[in-house]
Amino acid sequence: MVGGSMGAAKQTSIHGQWSSKWVFVLAATGSAVGLGNIWKFPYITGENGGGAFVLVYLLCIVAIGLPIMMAEIMLGRHGRQSPINTMRLLAEKAKAHPAWQYLGWMGVLAGFLILSYYSVIAGWALSYVMKSISGAFVAASAADVEDIFSQLTGSPVKLLFWHSLFILMTMAVVARGVRGGLEKAVRFLMPALFAILLVLVGYAMTTGEYFFQGITFLFAPDFSRLTGAGVLIAMGHAFFTLSLGMGAIMVYGSYMPQNASITATSLAIVGADTVVALLAGMAIFPIVFANGLAPGAGPGLIFQTLPVAFGQMPGGIFFASLFFLLLVFAAWTSAISLIEPAVAWLVENHGMSRLRASVWAGLVTWLVGLGTVFSFNLASDWTLFGKTFFDLLDFLTANIMLPLGGLLIAVFCGWVFFAGESVAELATRPWLYSSWRFLLRYISPAAVVVVFLQAIGVLG
Ligand code: PFF
Repeated sequence: MVGGSMGAAKQTSIHGQWSSKWVFVLAATGSAVGLGNIWKFPYITGENGGGAFVLVYLLCIVAIGLPIMMAEIMLGRHGRQSPINTMRLLAEKAKAHPAWQYLGWMGVLAGFLILSYYSVIAGWALSYVMKSISGAFVAASAADVEDIFSQLTGSPVKLLFWHSLFILMTMAVVARGVRGGLEKAVRFLMPALFAILLVLVGYAMTTGEYFFQGITFLFAPDFSRLTGAGVLIAMGHAFFTLSLGMGAIMVYGSYMPQNASITATSLAIVGADTVVALLAGMAIFPIVFANGLAPGAGPGLIFQTLPVAFGQMPGGIFFASLFFLLLVFAAWTSAISLIEPAVAWLVENHGMSRLRASVWAGLVTWLVGLGTVFSFNLASDWTLFGKTFFDLLDFLTANIMLPLGGLLIAVFCGWVFFAGESVAELATRPWLYSSWRFLLRYISPAAVVVVFLQAIGVLG
């Protein structure tokens, strides 16, 4: 079973296939759109000075993210197995070094590490759904909301409860598999999410001059506010937000129908992801400025600022509950893809049922997540290089592991596996094909290396 047929015959996936290319687009968009867009993008944009940071991020999306997304889908659809086995199989086929399979392993590790803290933040959102419904934010001042937030993060018991609940929710969907679980979840949740976000931007527009201040902050580049570290964070976030560099998109690609266009679907996913992040920024910054709050408040940004606005707007309870529910849904469809590579591998190599595999993967993530839970309270002063356990995990995964994984995927796809022509695989116009290939072989790898080097100070 492992390894599949080695001949020219097309691989098929033992895990099933998406029922149409649209379901693939929805699922991959569900993976891409998550806390990264709504929680992380605004807060790192706020911390890194706004417009110039956003510009670098957008450049990374187009020049690095898009070509690597196409490469990941292509490799996944070719291998039709978990990323670990896909990399092993494709390396064998290309007569390349078997060590390429470690790329799959690094991805599985990154997925566990990311989900371990992702789930804690998703837990914040879960807890905020309940708080919103109970009316806790009605007419609350900024100080009241900060108090509510620090009471939550300061309590290991509360964080543990919501973290555990979110892991259970993720396991429940993953256990049901590609058709039963993942597909049903994304079919309804993605469009709902988009609609609710539009409503919020509509509200932000009513803040008048603050709306323009927010838009200026987001889109007018001021390069004096961009640092070298900011460039690394922007690039890392391009990988994080598109779910690239760890096999999540590769494993979803392995369930993709053979006749769907990789170029068109990738453009749709990247476009939707970028639009959602920018919409989130457009909704959040006007509210931040309208209430005299600080854009650089850190990971608590949306949790400390948005409720103030919800508390003042008519129908605030309704909008607040919807917003945080939206955030939970977005996080849920991403979390599923974070452990799917590991679950697919456990099923393939250890003959486990999906249920058992999900339980094991969930347990491990839950355990690692305790580190993040305590880093906000009991262990908040345990730091290394000035970073708490949560900060370290986030930095290591988003800014190092994902770009490194992406770099290796670009090299493997552009130079090793599809060293010759791969036009047929991409089935697209010749100029698009050549642009993609040029970006993948030269620009994306070089850009990742240059950003890494400048970050460690080699290039100043
Ligand atoms: N793309 C997700 C987000 O923006 O929230 C996070 C993520 C999911 C990262 C899956 C990596 C991944 F493989």
